[in-house]
Amino acid sequence: MADVRDYIRTIPDFPHEGILFRDVTTLFGDARGFRMAVDQLLHPFIGTRIDRVAGLEARGFILGGAVAHQLSVGFVPVRKKGKLPGETIEEAYQLEYGTAVLEAHVDAVQPGERVLIVDDLLATGGTAEAGISLVERLGGEVAGCAFVVDLPDLGGRRRLEALGVTVHALTAYE
Ligand code: PRP
Ligand code: ADE
Repeated sequence: MADVRDYIRTIPDFPHEGILFRDVTTLFGDARGFRMAVDQLLHPFIGTRIDRVAGLEARGFILGGAVAHQLSVGFVPVRKKGKLPGETIEEAYQLEYGTAVLEAHVDAVQPGERVLIVDDLLATGGTAEAGISLVERLGGEVAGCAFVVDLPDLGGRRRLEALGVTVHALTAYE
């Protein structure tokens, strides 16, 4: 198989009836697929300055950790509220039902650092926008956002690009 898409499994009716869930665990579980995804996520950013990679909980940790290792830079966990032990800043974002909150440690990004944000999937863009906001409030500059999957019908790419952020996705499901 030659494309990351070949390793992504679609599970109908999860977590709700009518949703086609794009499951990347099968991509992560395949040595060739996982390496392909990590290599392709960072490819457009080779030769640009990246000081840190921020991963969005939870699947962004798996990809972002590997991307950070490959780039030989540090990793910043952007976590759901209440998980990080040190002093944090927080950003609320919209879910399908209600809101959620993401946090980052106040000292996780130094002013002026260029940060690549990584997650598995871009849907409405609410999660990534909260991550962007956290990085920028810490004084960092977002070098780009990299995703394995884009769901363009949900408008996330437009939303992030309207903020002036570069969006890189390996595959899209209309
Ligand atoms: C999924 C996915 C992204 C987010 C994208 O995570 O991994 O982080 O949704 O959706 P959005 O673009 O509409 O914000 P989820 O919130 O299900 O959390 P999890 O990774 O902890 O399962
Ligand atoms: N998050 C939002 N929509 C999703 C989908 N179709 N598959 C996986 N994660 C999602």
